[in-house]
Amino acid sequence: MATNEEKLKTIISHAKEYGFVFPSSEIYDGLSAVYDYGQLGSELKFNIKEYWWKAMVQMHENIVGIDSAIFMHPTTWKASGHVDAFNDPLIDNKDSKKRYRADVLIEEYIENKLRAKIEKEVEKAKERFGAAFDEAQYLSTNPRVVEYQKKIDEINARFKKALEDSNMDEMKQIIVDLEIACPISGTKNWTEVRQFNLMFATEIGSLAEGANKIYLRPETAQGIFVNYLNVQKTGRMKIPFGIAQIGKAFRNEIVARQFIFRMREFEQMEMQFFVKPGEQKHWYEYWKTARLKWHQALGLSDKKYRYHDHLKTAHYADAACDIEFEFPMGFKELEGIHSRTNFDLNAHQEFSKKKLQYFDPELNENYVPYVVETSVGLDRMFLSILSASYKEETLEDGSTRVVLSLPPFLAPYKVAILPLMKKDGLPEKAREIMDQLKFSFNCHYEEKDAIGKRYRRHDAYGTPFCVTIDPQTLEDNMVTIRDRDTMKQERVAVDQLERIIREKVDLSSALKKLV
Ligand code: GAP
Repeated sequence: MATNEEKLKTIISHAKEYGFVFPSSEIYDGLSAVYDYGQLGSELKFNIKEYWWKAMVQMHENIVGIDSAIFMHPTTWKASGHVDAFNDPLIDNKDSKKRYRADVLIEEYIENKLRAKIEKEVEKAKERFGAAFDEAQYLSTNPRVVEYQKKIDEINARFKKALEDSNMDEMKQIIVDLEIACPISGTKNWTEVRQFNLMFATEIGSLAEGANKIYLRPETAQGIFVNYLNVQKTGRMKIPFGIAQIGKAFRNEIVARQFIFRMREFEQMEMQFFVKPGEQKHWYEYWKTARLKWHQALGLSDKKYRYHDHLKTAHYADAACDIEFEFPMGFKELEGIHSRTNFDLNAHQEFSKKKLQYFDPELNENYVPYVVETSVGLDRMFLSILSASYKEETLEDGSTRVVLSLPPFLAPYKVAILPLMKKDGLPEKAREIMDQLKFSFNCHYEEKDAIGKRYRRHDAYGTPFCVTIDPQTLEDNMVTIRDRDTMKQERVAVDQLERIIREKVDLSSALKKLV
């Protein structure tokens, strides 16, 4: 069985080999936690965005979309709390000069030193007891396992309190008490733990004008908050209504690993839903259910998703949860759903000195709406889809094939057009078919290599259909259509192709599952 690390490595190399994702500026050895999307990756990303946008904007009469600027007035970030509180606790090792997130060092200690031991004990017991093994009972009665679990609980309680109190001395003390060493130098020669702001800052204007510090936005949400009244008034929106946005966000992440899971430049798909005060709980539950349904409609396996309710919420939220996905590295946050109260609008009202109240014609009164937010990372969506679709299959003849069984409507190419040979009028006929289909689908024309090799290549791209044009086609206008998932080949008339392909790759079939 491949380890989590090996599984992720396989996805990373597949993504690179087939033009999905490349390390940024690779010829200069790359830039940590920054990635570029290649020719297939950008298509897949575009299709994910379309699925989200259509589901959120087009399918809801009371949700509209905007595209706000990355740069915003610096006071935005003071009001939102990001200048003062968007921090990670950092610690440096004095010998290796390497910088770490203190909370991650502690979490990794728990994972690698304690949880790994529990897993090992369970594996051994499984082998020993076979089918009679009762894992739940074993976990609660085996003295060694109980001891490890007790230690995990103790560390977690201490760690949680230190985080809540922003007690950096206690955070350092936990690292010292657990005797955590730097993985590079092997020493325990640590600095104090300090808070480090995650926003990237730059300057706007020339020096002559007097430069001003501004930030690259760390979330797209604030562009929605500051525009909410513009949209409400010009769009004549009535509460409850939503504003959606897809765009780049930037965070100076210190722990930059796990491929496109945690990046310094990434994309978010966020929607703020403005509701009457007091109705936020209802809408929070509504969006929690609706967003899980959106993920599950991809058909990647319902078991790969779970909710993680936040027991302790941020100061501005009265409820929050994550939708977690089983990535190659285990279950991790994919999307956040937050009931943000009226914190952001109130803060902007206070800092801007502009009224941000909504006049409710039904109640005949003004109020600052409450907000329920749904926020999903586009790059995390990409990784979840890529990793769940990647399969290595052993075929009947003993050979293996790598196939990306992407949801067909998300596939970069919908159909490959493949003349069997590069002669006898087959390329011309193939081009003629391509010219008919390219108005409806992203097609890929290929005439190089044996047909089997071309099929395998398109399996690895995730192309749902391959259409082969052979000498018989010139006589009867029939082609062979091969299905990526079943590998079944069928002879069909050229004028049936559009219908057959559309039935499988049409985005509206996924959207219909949502209503
Ligand atoms: N406006 C709310 C907000 O930004 P968040 O939980 O910090 O909340 C929302 O981020 C989502 O954005 C996450 O669930 C994740 O999918 C994505 N995300 C956050 N930081 C990221 C990073 N460094 N790299 C990639 N995606 C990230």
